[in-house]
Amino acid sequence: MFNKIRPWKNQKNSSTLREKIEKVKKLPVPEHVAIIMDGNGRWAKKRALPRIAGHHEGMKVVRKTTRLASKLGIKTLTLYAFSTENWKRPKNEVEYIMKLPEEFLGTFLPELIEENVQVKMMGYKDQLPVHTLRAIERAIEDTKNNTGLVLNFALNYGSRAEILDAVKQVINDCKSGIMKENELDEKVFSSYLMTSNIADPDLLIRTSGEIRLSNFMLWQLAYTEFWFTEVLWPDFNEDHLLEAIKDFQNRQRRFGGVK
Ligand code: FPP
Repeated sequence: MFNKIRPWKNQKNSSTLREKIEKVKKLPVPEHVAIIMDGNGRWAKKRALPRIAGHHEGMKVVRKTTRLASKLGIKTLTLYAFSTENWKRPKNEVEYIMKLPEEFLGTFLPELIEENVQVKMMGYKDQLPVHTLRAIERAIEDTKNNTGLVLNFALNYGSRAEILDAVKQVINDCKSGIMKENELDEKVFSSYLMTSNIADPDLLIRTSGEIRLSNFMLWQLAYTEFWFTEVLWPDFNEDHLLEAIKDFQNRQRRFGGVK
């Protein structure tokens, strides 16, 4: 139904892209970039295509973005692929999105391994279809010893639920004596979240012109720099990511202090 995707290793970097990458790498790049990939449905609607065509195109952009993030030396790329609220969508759309990890990893896992990418997932695994979870878990297992870019899929992820679960766990640990109440600080609380081994994002990107967080990493984004673009996710390309990073490099991060 949709165009075939060219394998990663067959994609040649144009010299101009290589030059742009080198230029951006002269200044510190964000270590953790998180992206709310929005606008797939509108992209499809504009072309009189079914919404799922937008998600399929969006999947190709995941691959392109991962590739560039890896080349830029970004340490972690977190992608919001499905929220705990997205189950409210039409059944066929949900089923289609749940097939994308298999398609993506079925095609690209060997290349991710070759590129030293480590796949991770954050979100509630229990409600995921078995085939989706199997594909993700296989990728996590096969890439667990890789030391390059961490590609962290937020799948069936919701930040309020994550925080509530962390609070409940803290209460349990205090009750059972594993932890004392006065030991609880921000660092300890962070270790109860799904991102326990992942630093907070330095840069958050949201595509499609929506200016909201949609229940995404509410705790972790406290001091993150935000970058919004009108570009719909399937149209997001290397230049947009480089533009976001250049913008980030011009920001003054003060973390509440003064410079
Ligand atoms: C939001 O756009 C997008 C999603 C809920 C799904 C995102 C999924 C992908 C980009 C593919 C993920 C790929 C892998 C490998 C897991 P929307 O549908 O809300 O767009 P709209 O606001 O224009 O309707």
